[in-house]
Amino acid sequence: MNFELTEEQIAVRDAARDFAQNVLKPGVIERDENQTFPKDEIKQLGELGFLGMMVDPKYNGGGMDAISYVLAMEEISKVDASCSVIMSVNNSLVCWGIEKFGNEEQKQKYLTRLATGEIIGAFCLSEPEAGSDATSQRTTAEDKGDHYLLNGTKNWITNGSSASVYLVMAQTDREKGHRGINCVIVERGMDGFVVGAKENKLGIRGSDTHTLLFNDVKVPKENRIGDEGFGFKFAMKTLTGGRIGIASQALGIASGSLELATTYAKERKTFGKPIAEHQAIGFKLADMATEIECARNLCLKAAWLKDKGEPFDKEGAMAKLYASKVAMESSVEAVQIHGGYGFVKEYHVERLMRDAKITQIYEGTSEIQKIVISRSILKD
Ligand code: CAA
Repeated sequence: MNFELTEEQIAVRDAARDFAQNVLKPGVIERDENQTFPKDEIKQLGELGFLGMMVDPKYNGGGMDAISYVLAMEEISKVDASCSVIMSVNNSLVCWGIEKFGNEEQKQKYLTRLATGEIIGAFCLSEPEAGSDATSQRTTAEDKGDHYLLNGTKNWITNGSSASVYLVMAQTDREKGHRGINCVIVERGMDGFVVGAKENKLGIRGSDTHTLLFNDVKVPKENRIGDEGFGFKFAMKTLTGGRIGIASQALGIASGSLELATTYAKERKTFGKPIAEHQAIGFKLADMATEIECARNLCLKAAWLKDKGEPFDKEGAMAKLYASKVAMESSVEAVQIHGGYGFVKEYHVERLMRDAKITQIYEGTSEIQKIVISRSILKD
């Protein structure tokens, strides 16, 4: 076993850290407060190569490995989890999905622009009545010969109003169950496609989460990804990789909480000494650091397996399950260590605590991760 990072991986991590601390941090409280999409910051992230990190350079990507992706996601998420969810959806769900399963034409037309951040993408699976139970899709893609006629509603769509390209799962043949689902690429501006209401969220408030409506949207057949009926498997396989991204986001929220709590505990004095020197605080920091290191190792292990081309379904689910729990617990402890100051926005930890919760919900709730893990154990 070799726990050493390569020089390239260290350089990626450091570049992400610099960007997060110098570019993202100054405006993060205001963007959270006003629910402002980080448009300029995302453009810069794209210029740095962080929006198509793992895409082959021949499609304008960064050609980096999944380990570098984990490292970058952690650094960005320490400061701005709204930015990192935009980054994660574009990298893991949209770019990866098109690169892995799209045809050459789709890659040239969409991936080359998504990988640079010239445009960003969205992944549209969830519906008002199909969240965890993803096979119950109500959105339909009726086969009309040379095109599909798309009708339905999607919910909770990250990048809902800022994306230009949407990967939409829809049912073509209900009788075939999950084998009747297709994934089609919908472009912003297609007739009948409407971006609906924006959610007013507890956390990740800088990212735009929308309902999307499809009313007789004509989608050319050439926009289907993979063979007829591949849509559900496309979604599952793509989400499997996506879970590494969200696990790393959770890891960043946790390690960002620890960094802020440690700094504060060394500065703040009570009873004549820094609070870090009181065991009540030292023990909290020790627990947080230990759990974060476990979460980091789970994320890196899943990424390492992915880089080797080996199955990582169980490990990705474990990383997401555990890192999101650690994000929640560490951010709550960071608020506690800050006392009253933790409850106000200027100290950043209350935002991390609010942002942490979604990591236990999206791209599969913690309960879904347990289903994936237990199924994997039981079949071994
Ligand atoms: N890879 C490949 N194929 C898979 C798979 C995977 N990881 N998981 C399931 N499949 C295949 C199965 O092999 C099966 O195919 P066959 O019938 O040909 O064998 C088919 O898919 C159906 O599988 P299941 O019977 O296991 O399906 P299920 O209904 O029991 O559901 C589930 C399994 C794991 C619960 C799944 O529905 C699931 O992951 N749900 C959660 C969905 C989710 O994560 N939603 C998040 C929305 S996206 C998001 O949040 C993005 C964002 O904006 C941030």
